[in-house]
Amino acid sequence: MSDTHESCGDMGGLLVESRIVPVGSLRANEWNMNEMSEEVYQFLKQNIQKRGFTDAVLVTKDMTIIDGEHRWRAMKEVGATEIEVKVLDLTDEEAKAETANRSLLRGTVNQERMARVLKEVTKNKVAEEIEQTIAMKQQAIDRMVGKYCDAAPDPEEVPEPVSDFREVETTLQRGDLVILGDHKVLVGDAASVVDISILFGPELADMCVTSPPYYNQREYSQWPTYQDFLMFCDDVIKGIRSIANESSFVCCWNMGSSESEHEFIPADNYFQFKQYGFVWIEWIVWQKQCAQWNIPRSQHIDSGRYVPALRWESICVFLLGDRPQFELRDIKKVREWQENLWTMQKVLGNEQRAVGHPAMFPIELPYRCILSFSKKGALVYEPFCGSGQTILAAEQTGRRCYAIDIEPRYVEIAAQRWESMTGRTRTVIRGSKGIPNPE
Ligand SMILES: C[S@@+](CC[C@H](N)C(=O)[O-])C[C@H]1O[C@@H](n2cnc3c(N)ncnc32)[C@H](O)[C@@H]1O
Repeated sequence: MSDTHESCGDMGGLLVESRIVPVGSLRANEWNMNEMSEEVYQFLKQNIQKRGFTDAVLVTKDMTIIDGEHRWRAMKEVGATEIEVKVLDLTDEEAKAETANRSLLRGTVNQERMARVLKEVTKNKVAEEIEQTIAMKQQAIDRMVGKYCDAAPDPEEVPEPVSDFREVETTLQRGDLVILGDHKVLVGDAASVVDISILFGPELADMCVTSPPYYNQREYSQWPTYQDFLMFCDDVIKGIRSIANESSFVCCWNMGSSESEHEFIPADNYFQFKQYGFVWIEWIVWQKQCAQWNIPRSQHIDSGRYVPALRWESICVFLLGDRPQFELRDIKKVREWQENLWTMQKVLGNEQRAVGHPAMFPIELPYRCILSFSKKGALVYEPFCGSGQTILAAEQTGRRCYAIDIEPRYVEIAAQRWESMTGRTRTVIRGSKGIPNPE
């Protein structure tokens, strides 16, 4: 075997040399911090057999590996007798630093971009072909693609039919009050002060966390005009005001906007809250892990117009009275969201279908709002209960939640979810006084 000197230079005392050497002449160092799963290692071996050895191992003059231990082991295992190395003239300390730097200089993976590439290169391939293509198991690829890409279907894709949602049967009806431990949910109308007073009696709430119905985007949220929608919001805000503890009440109002109809809802809602004496204190942006490609836009840039896909929603925070103050430093979690950009994964379509509600916010959203703006034992009002995420977050954080939803099936879902979270059972008070029953 002859040494092949492909390049050799004196770079300020650092000798750089390329050689082909016997595989057995190299030795592993004792400080290598790079780890590789068995799965990826097996892929590396296959790749060497398929593409050849394309990336020389970096060694010191005494043949200790600086970078490339896995490649060297793989070469031995595939039966290679020689291997290409680059020799650096480094002290022991410099060699260790070089190993560390080589690891750091590889950078980190942007999960979302990786997911998009994985989706593209594995498209139309069966599991076996995928394992030949990418150093990752199909299941792991599916999980990643599901998390980052599947919620963002191609613009041509139509939204999933609502019929795919879990069918929920219930005996609950308008006027029923469901008691869930310390929480209550009324099957009622959040725009009705009568319904709200039945839910609260003489009690007052310390905060409100909610996501009002999207304007004209769901079957349960259709108004003839935008003005009608605003009148509905007005009634709901009036209702919130009627049960608000005036000395320190915070309302976290999470909403998208209605770009399709060119209405900037946060601005209009702002004036409505103001009219009822609320002061705006925060605008938090909820950034989702990927954009909403299907509703309400379908054109994006293909139509020749720039219509960017929706990737965030507003959480506007309004206040009555003095800003509540408590020892937030004791709540370690709050340190993780000190900035007003909250990155939280949205609930994916398949999860919503399994639960049976088409517009869930992540439980992380009410959880953060509650921990950031209320103290233990606080009473939280949720006018649009939906699947019950705010109730579950209140349960997790030691708060009480009084909620309303107009749709009995959603109240049923919320109650079932609370029951399976706590292992407890509900009590139902039928036809609360004052609320007309359809029968
Ligand atoms: C955007 S969803 C809320 C989803 C909820 N945040 C979750 O994570 O499941 C709006 C909810 O408002 C309810 N709703 C619509 N009109 C209502 C009204 N007038 N009073 C009470 N609830 C109403 C709908 O049934 C729907 O469940």
